[in-house]
Amino acid sequence: MSSLSEHRPGVRRELELTPTKGTSMATSPWWQGAVLYQLYVRSWRDSNGDGYGDINGITQQLDHLSWLGIDGLWLSPTMPSPDADWGYDVSDYTGVHPELGTLGDLDALIAEAGRRGIRVLLDLVPNHTSSAHPWFIDAASGRDAAHRDYYVWADPVPGGGPPTNWLDATGEPAWQWHPATGQYYLHNFLPAQPDLNWWQPAVHAEFRQILEFWFDRGVAGFRIDVAHGLYKDAELRDNPPLAPTSSDSDRLAGRFGQRPVYSANRPETHGVYRDWRKIAESYSPPRLLLGETWTGDLSSLASYYGDDDELQLSFNFPVVFARFPAELPDLVDETLAALPTGARPVWTGSNHDVGRFPSRWCHGDPARIRLALLILLTLPGTTVLYYGDEIGMTDVAVPAELQRDPMTQAGSPQGQRDRARTPMRWNGAPGAGFTGPTVTPWLPIGPAAVNVADQRGDPDSVLSLCRRLVDLRHGELGAGVAGYRRLASPPGVWSYTAGPLLVTANLAATPAAMPDQGAEILLRTGPAAAGLGPWEGVVARGG
Ligand code: GLC
Repeated sequence: MSSLSEHRPGVRRELELTPTKGTSMATSPWWQGAVLYQLYVRSWRDSNGDGYGDINGITQQLDHLSWLGIDGLWLSPTMPSPDADWGYDVSDYTGVHPELGTLGDLDALIAEAGRRGIRVLLDLVPNHTSSAHPWFIDAASGRDAAHRDYYVWADPVPGGGPPTNWLDATGEPAWQWHPATGQYYLHNFLPAQPDLNWWQPAVHAEFRQILEFWFDRGVAGFRIDVAHGLYKDAELRDNPPLAPTSSDSDRLAGRFGQRPVYSANRPETHGVYRDWRKIAESYSPPRLLLGETWTGDLSSLASYYGDDDELQLSFNFPVVFARFPAELPDLVDETLAALPTGARPVWTGSNHDVGRFPSRWCHGDPARIRLALLILLTLPGTTVLYYGDEIGMTDVAVPAELQRDPMTQAGSPQGQRDRARTPMRWNGAPGAGFTGPTVTPWLPIGPAAVNVADQRGDPDSVLSLCRRLVDLRHGELGAGVAGYRRLASPPGVWSYTAGPLLVTANLAATPAAMPDQGAEILLRTGPAAAGLGPWEGVVARGG
């Protein structure tokens, strides 16, 4: 079915990632046109038979990522943590979680990945720590404690009760009463995740050191957790109410009946990124700051790029929550119009919080999954795949008794998150090649039929298609993936150029006529035919 004429093999850019400081590169940064891969460490490969994925498992399985053509990895949290929120409650910012490996294992992964031209980003959690972090243990020891001001403490309102109406990620009050010291502390997530106080200069100094610690070890950058958080309103004003919402994308405006105007997206946060950008740029090559910028407003998203002096990349959640594929063409236009000149958009459909695009966007329909991959991998900027996207893995319904995510057990608005954290399926055998055949994995494995080994041997598989798309992205679009231009096309069809490529997508369940392009077809997501099949996408060269 899919036809792909000969084309240049993927161009790999310079690979050296030295831990030394130096001047920044004048050329395109390595993430321009790149394909990043979010890897949920506990679910990718278990090297020691305990049912959890680990760092050595990644190192052993790097062949898959080289073969696929991945440029960079974002590892879900690797730092020591009591795991109230699976690593997003950090108790030591310069260590490695003992269940995942050692600092030496991480160094070895970075070195081995580097030899293959793959860079490694870590997940940095600056909005909050674990309540088990020594800073918080000290802060909670008394009002005069050295680290007291590292966190957001406040008195009850007159007459009693929490200082503001803010709600945490589970819909409960975001303030925890601390009887020992007679104040509340703020937690925008779980009570075991106290928010840091970014009005305190010492917190800035701590994080500068944390950044340098990892950059010096050769870490290529960070995905910044809750990048829209950090600063909170100095006056602790109440959040305003949220108008009733109807669509998925509206939920980015707020939740639990509130707009988080005063508890997130505060203007002062931009200063943190201007500071971190200077640190990132002091390395060669510059380190990458990729923000989890949870905002439904594209101009607010754009603001995190600053004047090319804040985050180099920001996740685009309006696209993640878009109705697929109908809303994408306009959203791509609006994103490109909103971003500052030269800023690189980020395209992604899945992650460990919001679920997998093959389910959310595509309802498990193989034709739509193939089309989604084609779109994600031909748009200008940076594409982030989530592990399993490459084989079209759908969400796995995890029975209540096997669920592991405390934050979403009680009917969270974003759904139960374990569904998108289940083990990678490497083959169809018991344990799926993720763990040993007799080991109980930490989360259930899901349908064995969708797995890497079977798809690698099938030239028509989702995996083979994904690899060809990554290769096209590198080979045809190169490091300068740019030049997006939307073309006039019949209703229900989306056509655009990206570099030398001409992309045509049928956005409907009914066949459509192929616009007369006079171009050489390089790849199609459906069987060869005169027109465009339902949900079919075609990539052609020139025209
Ligand atoms: C981010 C993470 C999510 C976590 C939360 C609190 O949204 O992606 O998994 O629960 O931050 O750290």
